[in-house]
Amino acid sequence: MTKMPQKADLMGSAGGEFFIKLKETTNGMLAASIYRKMYKLSLEQCRGPIIDIGVGQGPSSIAFALGVAHSGRSDKVHVIDQFEQVRVGPHKYSMTDLPDGCREANTEVFKNHMKAYGVEGITDVHPGRTDEVHGDFGEDVMADILSIDADGNIDRDFALYFDKVLLGGWIIVDDYADFIDRTGRSNLERFSDMNTSQVRAKWAGMSSLDRRRTLGKHLLIYILANAIEATGAIVKKQVMGSTAFYVKTSSRKFSKIMKIDAAELEEKLLKRLLTELSKQKDV
Ligand SMILES: C[S@@+](CC[C@H](N)C(=O)[O-])C[C@H]1O[C@@H](n2cnc3c(N)ncnc32)[C@H](O)[C@@H]1O
Repeated sequence: MTKMPQKADLMGSAGGEFFIKLKETTNGMLAASIYRKMYKLSLEQCRGPIIDIGVGQGPSSIAFALGVAHSGRSDKVHVIDQFEQVRVGPHKYSMTDLPDGCREANTEVFKNHMKAYGVEGITDVHPGRTDEVHGDFGEDVMADILSIDADGNIDRDFALYFDKVLLGGWIIVDDYADFIDRTGRSNLERFSDMNTSQVRAKWAGMSSLDRRRTLGKHLLIYILANAIEATGAIVKKQVMGSTAFYVKTSSRKFSKIMKIDAAELEEKLLKRLLTELSKQKDV
């Protein structure tokens, strides 16, 4: 077993270097400063277990787990990831490289990183999609931090995991930004030669999943997270880059708080699509 880094290695000026190295060695997709913030939340403001969704090769899970260890708690960091990469992403192997055994191979990479940082005993890995593994968590797991960085369908993940967070606990949502990301921009091109009624006709023929994805993950998350916050279930405390940090402010069951109205969401996305297309034509 590798020796676990000590608190002094992660705090103060030395900490900057540590989190940069953590990002580099685990192919981290977030800024090193976000992993540092996750460590400090886990160390200083966490009263229980952590649920970490969408972990790639493991930098956030390592940051959370080191916070647990350095605070002297005996809680677990429960890790959820499908560990299957369709095209690009944080994992080492994609489904094209390794159609059979992709999940197993990427899970192994993740576990080796936990060993390399001495936190394998603190992390509890659940390989699978969020909707496949949520049943693994009984009422005994009430997390004080829930971190979500998966495929953008945060309404699905709030419906599955919000009730497993303590009142006053932290909910971290990545890719929260009011902008059209690279995927969204390239999708926009498919509509660029169409007039409004052609856009509407094309939109009507698309699946709900495709409509959600058209303008990219960031905008989808921005709209969904704002709708959830508007119910009073969560309150935003900070946004670092495109990572939003919320506190849970309602103890009601998520199903009683809200149901996302799919038609309303899609109408919002269609309106934004038409606005973006008309902006392009004005240029
Ligand atoms: C943007 S990456 C996460 C990057 C990671 N947080 C980091 O700091 O490097 C998204 C992750 O979510 C996982 N993922 C996507 N959809 C998922 C789902 N429905 N259930 C579980 N994991 C999912 C992917 O396998 C991938 O590891």
